[in-house]
Amino acid sequence: MKKDAAAIAELGVILREGGLAAIPTETVYGLAANAFMPGAVAKIFAAKGRPQDNPLIVHISEPDELDALCASAGEDAHALARAFWPGPLTIVLKKSGAVPDVVTAGMDTVAVRLPAHPVARAIIKAAGVPLAAPSANMSGSPSPTEAAHVLADLFGKIDAVVDGGACAVGVESTVVSLAQRPYRLLRPGGVTLLQLQAVLGEVTVDKAVYRSLAGDERPAAPGMKYRHYAPSAPLVAVIGNGTRSADYILQAAAGKTAAVLCFDEYLPLFEKEYKTLSYGPERDGEKQARRLFSALRELDAAKPALIFAQCPGDEGIFLAVSNRLKKAAGFDVVSV
Ligand code: TXA
Ligand code: MG
Repeated sequence: MKKDAAAIAELGVILREGGLAAIPTETVYGLAANAFMPGAVAKIFAAKGRPQDNPLIVHISEPDELDALCASAGEDAHALARAFWPGPLTIVLKKSGAVPDVVTAGMDTVAVRLPAHPVARAIIKAAGVPLAAPSANMSGSPSPTEAAHVLADLFGKIDAVVDGGACAVGVESTVVSLAQRPYRLLRPGGVTLLQLQAVLGEVTVDKAVYRSLAGDERPAAPGMKYRHYAPSAPLVAVIGNGTRSADYILQAAAGKTAAVLCFDEYLPLFEKEYKTLSYGPERDGEKQARRLFSALRELDAAKPALIFAQCPGDEGIFLAVSNRLKKAAGFDVVSV
């Protein structure tokens, strides 16, 4: 423990002085840099190959650090913070002058999150500054939920990787914007739409959550326009009751070098014929979220010509899972 404390203190100095480190959070691993140092933040974009127009989330370790980052947080932001921080929720607000333009990709809003992972909080505290951190993957590939995923993508490009084990939530934080009326869910995650509505009243869902945007549509969260979370093999997301989606996949995959991502109950139908991974029971969205990204990485490593995935519906936590799968599929979705 003492050794850990010394290592965290040392990492805090590295980050404060402009280094890049991958750190565990409860959602996915983040690639962190001093949010107040534009040169350090620029290195994040370079290491990930991230498009310059995609803003970063700023991570803090105590709720009272929010006020310095935004123009005026307001009662609803504080209510959200009380209800869900520390935890998998990112709040978008009008930014203050303290946040460099490179962090927000020139937008006049800033995204802020207070992670629940004790190691993440300890590292932010040790740095003594807020940390800008996107997911610690190469841009476009599935987000990392284990330290090994970070190394596979970024080894040699960053100063340190902290291994905090497998991430408990497994998909990125819920992003809600309070910078527009009505308030808008920009990215579904561990905090559900219903939970947000219980605190805020009306919250709408951005259309980029459900479908791909046309060329002339501007996404509210720039990150939502990129094909994302995606293995290199094309993926088909099959939505519907598990019995029906399994039937569909059995027929569509016949004779192909396909891989299959299925619910636990359907594993025996596929595993003899195809490279198959299950990612949780059909009715357990939490488990599906936890296993989704590592399963996509593992299936992709088998180099199939095509991946079929059983995809849940859009209620509650399932929305986070279905959104990531649809995006991995480039919205190539079959409803059965
Ligand atoms: O769980 C998470 O949020 C992880 C961990 C590391 O905290 N971070 C993460 O960051 O997923 P990233 O960069 O992969 O995703 C951030 C998303 C992107 O879709 C981005 O466009 C959006 O948040 N975003 C950031 N700032 C924004 C802003 N000011 N307005 C709207 N969307 C914003
Ligand atoms: Mg990301």
